[in-house]
Amino acid sequence: MSTSTNSGDPYGPVTQWLAKLPKAELHLHIDGSLRAPRLLELAAKHTVPLPYKTVEEVEAAYNFQDLQSFLDLYYLGASVLRDADDFYLLMQDYLAVCRRQGIVHCEIMVEPQTYEPQGVALATVLEGFSRAIREAEEGWQQSVGLILSFLRHLPEADCLATLTAADPYREHFVAIGLASAEKDFPPANFQNLYRAAKERGYALTAHAGEEGPAAFIRDALSLLKVQRIDHGVRSVEDDALLTELASSRVPLTVCPLSNVRLCVYEHMAEHRILELLDRGLCVMVNSDDPAYFGGDLLENFAAMERDLGMTRDQGLQLVRNSFEAAFVADEKRRDFLAQLEKHLDDHPG
Ligand code: HPA
Ligand code: ZN
Repeated sequence: MSTSTNSGDPYGPVTQWLAKLPKAELHLHIDGSLRAPRLLELAAKHTVPLPYKTVEEVEAAYNFQDLQSFLDLYYLGASVLRDADDFYLLMQDYLAVCRRQGIVHCEIMVEPQTYEPQGVALATVLEGFSRAIREAEEGWQQSVGLILSFLRHLPEADCLATLTAADPYREHFVAIGLASAEKDFPPANFQNLYRAAKERGYALTAHAGEEGPAAFIRDALSLLKVQRIDHGVRSVEDDALLTELASSRVPLTVCPLSNVRLCVYEHMAEHRILELLDRGLCVMVNSDDPAYFGGDLLENFAAMERDLGMTRDQGLQLVRNSFEAAFVADEKRRDFLAQLEKHLDDHPG
């Protein structure tokens, strides 16, 4: 297992220890794992014109002022994905990261509306993804759940049409989610979508409280009935909400490097994740869009160790929370937690 960060620095001792533990990652947009070399390769394959010619030029554009400036590049990047082989390679690349970093269970956001302008059907997307997932399940017992994620800058009627179009593929997904620009697109706009998804038996999560206010977290819980919140860091602005989240243990899938790259915090040293953890909230660490934000799961832990002084006990609690928050049957959850305890027993000290 690699013990260095993307920048070549060795991981700190806590992150090196965490690297060997079985972990879950629950907040990962598959399009956000499309790294520059693969992006350029697929653009060339399909002759998609891009304003970038080299890996260095693409990476120089990873310089965001806010969520929207990131999303502009993210959707441009995803527009190079056209056929089942592209989706296979994209998923294969991310699942290889899981294997390297000890992520035994991952929940991955798939956003069919992103591919619609290019005329790519959900059947094509899932053909490629399923092939890579099957290989990883059979090859090293990788556990994968897919989340059908909707784009909130589009009208609710479009989201409902996509939900219905996904009905033949219902068994591929564990949950629905809600992503993209948050500020002008509140949870209240998507109540029919969430009601329809609940009737279909999906688990429910939504991005809330990333750029939007703490009130959006409250609305996602009360109006959309979500079981989990993606990001949720602006809960720190509402003390009563923090008390409720600590007692309900509704999970927040926090993404530290993402929050710094999208200027939710100016510097990692200002991030509040460890305060949320120590207050008893079910928070855990995720990479969100690792190609764009400077690292995968372990790079997030490494930054928290370096800039927040994360201890081993805090890191372990974050890993336990990742399994507590997973959309899996309780028996499978118990198996993951037993796997974690066995690792700890077998590797004391
Ligand atoms: N927020 C909202 N939508 C997204 C994000 C994010 O951080 N990443 C990819 N889509
Ligand atoms: Zn996200």
